[in-house]
Amino acid sequence: MAEHLWDKGNTTNEDIVRFTVGRDIELDLYLAKHDVLGSMAHITMLESIGLIGKEELPVLLAELKKIYEIADKGEFVIEEGVEDVHSQVELMLTRKLGDLGKKIHSGRSRNDQVLLDMKLYARTEIQEIVYLCKKLFDVLISQSNKYKNVLMPGYTHLQIAMPSSFGLWFGAYAESLVDDMELLLAAYHITNRNPLGSAAGYGSSFPLNRQMTTDLLGFDSMDYNVVYAQMGRGKMEKTVAMAIAGIAATIGKLAFDSCMFTNQNFDFMKLPVECTTGSSIMPHKKNPDVFELTRAKCNQLQSVPQQIMMIMSNLPVGYFRDLQQVKEIFIPAIQQLKDCLKMTIYIMDKVKINEHILDDPKYDFIFSVEEVNRLATEGMPFRDAYKKVGIDIEKGNFKPNKNIHHTHEGSIGNLCNDRISALMDKTIGDFDFGKVETAIKNLLK
Ligand code: ARG
Repeated sequence: MAEHLWDKGNTTNEDIVRFTVGRDIELDLYLAKHDVLGSMAHITMLESIGLIGKEELPVLLAELKKIYEIADKGEFVIEEGVEDVHSQVELMLTRKLGDLGKKIHSGRSRNDQVLLDMKLYARTEIQEIVYLCKKLFDVLISQSNKYKNVLMPGYTHLQIAMPSSFGLWFGAYAESLVDDMELLLAAYHITNRNPLGSAAGYGSSFPLNRQMTTDLLGFDSMDYNVVYAQMGRGKMEKTVAMAIAGIAATIGKLAFDSCMFTNQNFDFMKLPVECTTGSSIMPHKKNPDVFELTRAKCNQLQSVPQQIMMIMSNLPVGYFRDLQQVKEIFIPAIQQLKDCLKMTIYIMDKVKINEHILDDPKYDFIFSVEEVNRLATEGMPFRDAYKKVGIDIEKGNFKPNKNIHHTHEGSIGNLCNDRISALMDKTIGDFDFGKVETAIKNLLK
């Protein structure tokens, strides 16, 4: 028979319990470390306002630290019959310390506990996502620099258009990640505010010191209004999901380009054989499944904000169990994004570039504008030059000059990769992860 934190002697039907617990048993494992950290900050504060004894605090903290270490090693389990991570931590504590363990929940509700856990979880995951995006950024910039002189066709309408380069192509995706980090930074600022102390969503009559838990957990500030703090459940996840959707859009597009460019008719890029998969019937196949799955997963990730909004959109003020469903969407999405990022980093570092694409005369016309510009530089009005080159092309008299000179900022001859890198460094610096790391280290001391 299951036992719950809220047991008062009545029994709840087992099917109702199974239905209401949902996937918490599995997903709350991601929250275990954060739940313990939240409890450590909360009881440190409770001691300061006299709700936990001076001699009791170190005993509780030491026990919580042990649980943290278990969670850190990935060995935390939610036992059969236990409802969620919050119940499991309290159970472990009371099993060890008896009545003392039962003291930690004063001035708190599972509503602000799970709010806090999700914020701490999201904060940690954002840090990892930033790290992975920076790694991908570095790979892309290094490929861009390496292949800055290798030309490729640029397309409009997927028709050959103008000369482009691998320097531009790789660098474009690097710069896209810079803007994605700006959006993630905004989401991080919203994440990095402390909801603890809002309790069930209406505060507490205990004189809680919310500034103290805010500082102990390394938050930038608190979510002040306790009703608003509770409204942040789902809102934070949606905001982070929007930033994730931005990153997913970038790498999804990169994946699609890469599928296309490794196609034999394009023949722009090759994947080393260890990055491809085979066919059960066609012995020659070396398929770019990694790019295809990345594309599909990134498309799925772009639907995550909508999925969260569908849960949230018709809820009035206050806590509802509906919010539990947000975890089922948000946590797997974070894991999926990190997986896609890791694969993209691995594979973009290994792609082999065809350095002679433009030797093929089928691309000659991409140099038409170069010729128009040359004539215009010599004094012919642009419109006349355009017409002359157009007629030459029609009559089969066009001879491309493949030596091109693009000099302005962001063009083939002047990629500005150093300036793009400076933008990235500035944005990443603004996350200020160091402050959070120091706070958590102190809390665990
Ligand atoms: N698993 C619950 C959730 O995610 C925890 C909070 C439970 N609170 C409650 N009032 N039933 O929302």
